[in-house]
Amino acid sequence: MIETSNPDIFAPYERLVEIKILGRVFEVPENNTLLRCFQYLSMDSISQADLCWNGECLSCQVWIKNGDKEKGVISCRTKVDEGMEIVRLSDEIDLEEINI
Ligand code: FES
Repeated sequence: MIETSNPDIFAPYERLVEIKILGRVFEVPENNTLLRCFQYLSMDSISQADLCWNGECLSCQVWIKNGDKEKGVISCRTKVDEGMEIVRLSDEIDLEEINI
């Protein structure tokens, strides 16, 4: 298992997978929700955001590439998949630590 500074908040994972966010490639822990992956990339801004983490506020919505269309998903309820392409983020998803 890969060491992280806050290992307790992540679902168990063996490796990192690549995803694209607004055209840039990042590695995030497999077997976790997209929102946890965003937190992995930008711990402070996501931890401090006004988010419910349980599917109610809908503020964590992001849009993923789905063929040649975009599909809106709730990032706290959507598991990451290798190769996922996130093309749009709601205003609440501020990935400050990676300058997104
Ligand atoms: S964080 Fe509220 S619905 Fe995902």
